Amino acid sequence: MSLTQNNNNTKIKRIAVLTSGGDAPGMNAAIRAVVLAATANNFEVIGFYHGYNGLINNEHCVLSNNDVHDIIHLGGTILKSARCPELCTKNGQLKAVETLKINNIDALVVIGGDGSFKGLQAIAEYWSGQVIGIPGTIDNDVDGTDFTIGFSTAVNTAIDAIDKIRDTANAFDRVFVVELMGRHSGHITFNVGISCAAEQVISFENFQVQQKQAILSTLAENIKQAIQYKHRSYLIVIAENLWPNGSQAFANELTKISGIDATLCTLGYIQRGGSPVAKDRILATKMGVAAIQAINAQETNMMIGEQNNAMVLVLLSEAVQHQKQVSQSLVDAQQNILAMTAQTET
Ligand code: F6P
Repeated sequence: MSLTQNNNNTKIKRIAVLTSGGDAPGMNAAIRAVVLAATANNFEVIGFYHGYNGLINNEHCVLSNNDVHDIIHLGGTILKSARCPELCTKNGQLKAVETLKINNIDALVVIGGDGSFKGLQAIAEYWSGQVIGIPGTIDNDVDGTDFTIGFSTAVNTAIDAIDKIRDTANAFDRVFVVELMGRHSGHITFNVGISCAAEQVISFENFQVQQKQAILSTLAENIKQAIQYKHRSYLIVIAENLWPNGSQAFANELTKISGIDATLCTLGYIQRGGSPVAKDRILATKMGVAAIQAINAQETNMMIGEQNNAMVLVLLSEAVQHQKQVSQSLVDAQQNILAMTAQTET
């Protein structure tokens, strides 16, 4: 599909765009691309504020090229974002549809994660306009796309922070436990753990609660070796929402069993902020343009994805069916690196 002037249109299309759920660096780059591509096709663009709440409350603005000319580098989202429990109700869905109708919207583009796409599907039940999703979440857990907008920046932000934590850990031969975001998936945890040469990665993909005591015992032994005999630091990255009673409980239990202080550092929302890295700006731009191309081609109920470096259309129903799994090669790589380190040091 090529991006061409839509001179044959008898009726000018009105496109609505909103950002929903956890904000992700690159959302602004996606908004920019949607607006520029839409304008090039002679479409009008309306932005709704605060995720689906803006749709329910009819809180919107007109977006022109001028409004987006200097936003590609900004973190957050100029349209604001929110979670919207009201959209889970039929009443909320009907209000959202009413707003789309009042504003004569022909197509709705939602930039967000799988929860946001479920909202989009719910709207499509009551509305005949076109609906297109663009995957934007730091968690990278959306099926049907190799990467989501914001993931690369979040990983780089976390690496930058952990490299600094490593400096102070080295200075004191100290144990740090760093908790990373990802809701219920370990894409951030594994990518960051490997990139920071973490001594241990604990995430959904390699943890079972029955192994809890065994993991603590092994770690305690490894930590004693590293700290007491080799005078090194020891870094563990752990996924949020994983350890029973939380990551602080993990650090406490580890301290107790090893007899060596393990300090928890929760990176938290720092991972969601900041200027997007090149990879996210480019991905967001490609996806925003592809969304308008899809609308031009009369597509609906689709998510824009990137697979093997090509833009693809994925059914929203398929995208939300399963959470995208962390690649086994990444999990294996971490495991093998650990094994190799142990071998070469005995
Ligand atoms: O989905 C993005 C994310 O940052 C997750 O990694 C995290 O679990 C969640 O959002 C936090 O959500 P909230 O902003 O509602 O606290």
